[in-house]
Amino acid sequence: MRIDILTLFPEMFPGPLGSSIDGRALRSGLVELNTVNYRDFAGDERGTVDERPYGGGPGMLMLPEVFTAAVEKVKTPGAVVVLTSPRGEVLSQALAAELASCGHLIIAAGHYEGVDERAVEEVVDREVSIGDYVLSNGNLAAMVIADTVIRLLPGALGDSESAEQDSFGDGLLEFPQYTRPPVFRGRAVPEILLSGDHGKIREYRRGLSEALTRERRPDVWEKFLTNEGIK
Ligand code: ADE
Repeated sequence: MRIDILTLFPEMFPGPLGSSIDGRALRSGLVELNTVNYRDFAGDERGTVDERPYGGGPGMLMLPEVFTAAVEKVKTPGAVVVLTSPRGEVLSQALAAELASCGHLIIAAGHYEGVDERAVEEVVDREVSIGDYVLSNGNLAAMVIADTVIRLLPGALGDSESAEQDSFGDGLLEFPQYTRPPVFRGRAVPEILLSGDHGKIREYRRGLSEALTRERRPDVWEKFLTNEGIK
């Protein structure tokens, strides 16, 4: 897979994407990560990439020529162009899986107050938010999106790491887990986990996953019920 990240701060990358599972995927060639600096597409000597919005209001907007030129420089047929924006659809495991299935992903980090709307209409396929809060710019959002996608690529996770058992892997939150010692500060590991009865353990964990999801995330629980055809 190829991922291009468009940004005003290319020095921020790969950053955290250079370590752990993502770093391994990058080094093994499973994913090729490039950064593109919007500044290189400025139309003047001073490197201007932003301007005040028509109609007034705070902040600056990315110029449409700069944004479209940067995207079009890297775009290949079939590439998916994502713009990070607090206004976008909220990132989910399902969206990450969808993006992981495209061969070429272009993640344009939003800067300033955003991008001229005509440029968005011209070249952006989907606007994606990583949650209902506001970041200083889209770079952290771009990293989060790239991370959720890269770890889903076939071969990115080792044998001991599983995407299926993750929270949301089956539409439920992950059950609580325990390791050594059997008793920690007077708290014992649930007996059933030491029983060796894998059928019972699976049932027990599933029950905990369902209870946790119902209590903590009623929104996820409702979606789960709908997907299972229960509701
Ligand atoms: N830019 C600023 N806030 C953001 C958010 N929550 N998600 C994506 N991009 C953003």
